[in-house]
Amino acid sequence: MPITDPVLTKRIPTAPWGDPKDRHTVHYEEFVRTDGYKGLEAALDRKPADLVEEVKAAVLRGRGGAGFPCGLKWSFLPEPDGGRRYLAINCDEAEPGTFKDRLLVDFDPHQVLEGIAIACWACQLDTAYFFIRGEYHHQAKVFERAIQEAYENGIFGGNGLLRGKVDFKVDCYLHRGAGAYICGEETGLLEAVEGKRGWPRIKPPFPAVKGLFGRPTIVNNVETLAAVVPILEHGVDWWKDHGCESSSGGAPSYGTKLMGVSGHVERPGVYECDLGIPLRKLVEDLCGGMRNGKRFKGAIAGGVSMGVLGPDQFDAPMDFDIGQYDVMGLGTACPTVFDEDTDMVAVARNIARFFKNESCGQCTPCREGSGWILKLISRIERGAGTTRDLDLLLEIAGSMGLTPGTTICGLADGNNWAVRTIVNKYRGEFEARVKPQFIPVTVNSSA
Ligand SMILES: Cc1cc2nc3c(=O)[nH]c(=O)nc-3n(C[C@H](O)[C@H](O)[C@H](O)COP(=O)(O)O)c2cc1C
Ligand code: SF4
Repeated sequence: MPITDPVLTKRIPTAPWGDPKDRHTVHYEEFVRTDGYKGLEAALDRKPADLVEEVKAAVLRGRGGAGFPCGLKWSFLPEPDGGRRYLAINCDEAEPGTFKDRLLVDFDPHQVLEGIAIACWACQLDTAYFFIRGEYHHQAKVFERAIQEAYENGIFGGNGLLRGKVDFKVDCYLHRGAGAYICGEETGLLEAVEGKRGWPRIKPPFPAVKGLFGRPTIVNNVETLAAVVPILEHGVDWWKDHGCESSSGGAPSYGTKLMGVSGHVERPGVYECDLGIPLRKLVEDLCGGMRNGKRFKGAIAGGVSMGVLGPDQFDAPMDFDIGQYDVMGLGTACPTVFDEDTDMVAVARNIARFFKNESCGQCTPCREGSGWILKLISRIERGAGTTRDLDLLLEIAGSMGLTPGTTICGLADGNNWAVRTIVNKYRGEFEARVKPQFIPVTVNSSA
């Protein structure tokens, strides 16, 4: 069954299970009335190490874009040494076309807080920083209020988690970003929380060993932490009944996932689905099909950094093996769909402008390459480019992404995947815009 009863959005009316017009923010009383914080209560009866093992057994893959298994990441933490240990929650959500974390924060913030409290207990982290993108003004207010309600009801602070049920006190703070995409990269985020410019750090050391203020830190996406709650509530077997095994021999794609669909579909929105649902089914069964009955031309797979699925890849399953379709990965599983009228050269230019503006400038290939890519695509779009520009475009993109260690973070590789997949999959559209390059032949007149 590709579509399931919702668990992450069980309190958020979402098609086809409810009418989005009935949505409202679930405050503390309603959350508790609908079994909220029961998962935390059960988790506090268990040993932290057992919880880490359970999340590991569920193979919960990170929902922030990289898909790294959450339990495995948690197990990289060193043993507590009496000093501070941090949880940094990534709600930067600045990837174009991605708007799934916002749904949870807007309407069910306590589910996220419950996941945060469980993660803090499981990993023995005493301080949580919720990093929220600068543009989420309303969501920051909603979440700030939810944190306050959680304090007033003894979830955080006081004598320990859940009104002193365990002698382990956790503090939770909200930290607002200032509008830079790069602060979503986990080490850029850590720098920003420390009050510095959001420049990604060279890894290793990884945050689990040396993160915020030089101390052990786990960085997790909002949805990843929200998913911990139903895993503990329903059990690992239930979680594994949703989603699919890997078709390439890699890690499986278990569980349900929030998929935010935008672009040329009849009903854009966030839909909770089992991982593995084919994009076509997502669009046709849940989003009401292509807008105005037009034909599918392609889709950004899950955030622009992942690259683009071509016209013949509508049936690609939305799972962590989607890389087989020549995209980088599933990313945030939030596809932007294009219909037959879309100008893919303009799409490429728009994406290139985004990456140029958002490069933090630390690494030469990214800082210079993103500028050159934008110049070349703009020239091609104006009809002033040549065939040589097309080759140069691919050469520059390749130099930004294909060699591991060329740059500090993944932004440059995201730029490479976006440009490369659009040019390769829609090459005809680019070729129609360029003039053939005249290569002069040098004739030795003295011969
Ligand atoms: C340029 C860039 C931007 C990113 N933006 C986000 C983001 O907005 N939200 C997010 O959760 N992860 C983002 N990530 C991924 C994070 O670095 C990190 O992998 C993630 O927060 C880890 O959480 P997870 O394991 O729970 O997915 C970004 C990565 C890169 C390279
Ligand atoms: S790859 Fe780009 S965004 Fe990432 S650190 Fe280097 S210059 Fe900054």
